[in-house]
Amino acid sequence: MTACIVGWSHGKFGKLDGETSESLIVKAATEAIAHAGIEPRDVDVIYVGNMNGGFVRQEFHSSLALQAHPDLRFKPSTRVENACATGSAAIHMGLNSLAAGKARFVLVVGVEKMTELNSAAAGEVLIKASYVAEEANIEAGFAGIFGKITSAYFQRYGDKSDALARIAVKAHKNGAKNPYAHFQKEFAYDFCRTPSDKNPFVAGPLKRTDCSPVTDGAAAVVLADVQTALGLKHAIAFRATEQVNDFLPMSKRDIIKFEGPALAWKRALASAKLDLLDLSFVETHDCFTSAELIEYEAMGLTAPGEGERAINEGWVERDGKLPINVSGGLKAKGHPVGATGVSMHVMSAMQLSGSAPASMQLNAPKIAGVFNMGGAAVANYVSILEPLR
Ligand code: COA
Repeated sequence: MTACIVGWSHGKFGKLDGETSESLIVKAATEAIAHAGIEPRDVDVIYVGNMNGGFVRQEFHSSLALQAHPDLRFKPSTRVENACATGSAAIHMGLNSLAAGKARFVLVVGVEKMTELNSAAAGEVLIKASYVAEEANIEAGFAGIFGKITSAYFQRYGDKSDALARIAVKAHKNGAKNPYAHFQKEFAYDFCRTPSDKNPFVAGPLKRTDCSPVTDGAAAVVLADVQTALGLKHAIAFRATEQVNDFLPMSKRDIIKFEGPALAWKRALASAKLDLLDLSFVETHDCFTSAELIEYEAMGLTAPGEGERAINEGWVERDGKLPINVSGGLKAKGHPVGATGVSMHVMSAMQLSGSAPASMQLNAPKIAGVFNMGGAAVANYVSILEPLR
């Protein structure tokens, strides 16, 4: 254990008309510093996680965090990008700064303003996170990539549309309990299972209710070394962190195996000296319901091809043996790509400190697992978190 989350903030996710990435960054940074109980001048290093690539015209975001307070002027700040794992990548950069002795306090802000574009144009930006040389012409933007993965999974293991609909229902049931979520209403199984005008096919077997939405939002954390954290009010420790990158082209991998995510989980659990079921809950990267299904297998909850058991038998429900995405996940909470990894850590820190909104709070969880993924199982990050004391 080398570092802790000592403060955090999380704005409401959604279609935030009137907000800009600048206003979102400033608010998230201000609130996280205040929550940590430190002064802005105490921050040594800043990382801003932002994927962008054309969601907004402003591309250069690092110094926008300095606008949270005059005392942040002249602090080193760097924008970090690693597709949909941008938020975790920024946190990892912060952990590296602490480990290198370059900082006592690191501010990490994750932000994305996506809804200035319509879904089709946002899909054009997101497809840049595929292997463009081979995959960019697939229809329906990034959803098309997961449409292809889902079709391949169905071909090998049979049609799992029932399980995908159940995963969507679970996400929205949990999202309805999360005041920070983009969608805060429950969706019926029949609605999610049946194609309709309101739930059309988007890509391959994936319907609208199988997709995470296009969302605006920001979240932030303050990181500190363990010694420093001992003197602070909030201290959620990193028991393990892992990053595993795989080849970018899907043609170079068995794409339904999610080998990168599996290795990241295996290494993180080994380094934490834990079994998967020692975790109290997991926040996993359900950019599409089929991603969550395959991630059950990658994290070792079921054998390959049997992921549906985890949802069909209730293991991953709020009251199951391993609750997964009690926040509503990307599917219901929303997926502002640069913010998502930070958001997953904040949701977990809230749960572990017992300070989540009452509707969402689990009963005394002890250890959390976070899995954040950039691209189609390409940049894979796992964190294992527990209260320092
Ligand atoms: N899940 C459930 N409902 C959704 C939704 C989603 N993902 N996205 C939109 N809706 C709802 C809207 O709230 C709206 O409801 P209303 O009619 O009651 O107001 C309705 O569907 C139409 O919204 P609209 O934005 O016009 O839908 P769309 O068809 O343009 O976009 C998707 C839907 C799924 C195509 C879009 O959300 C998308 O592209 N998602 C994937 C994003 C992505 O690839 N992220 C990166 C993953 S790695």
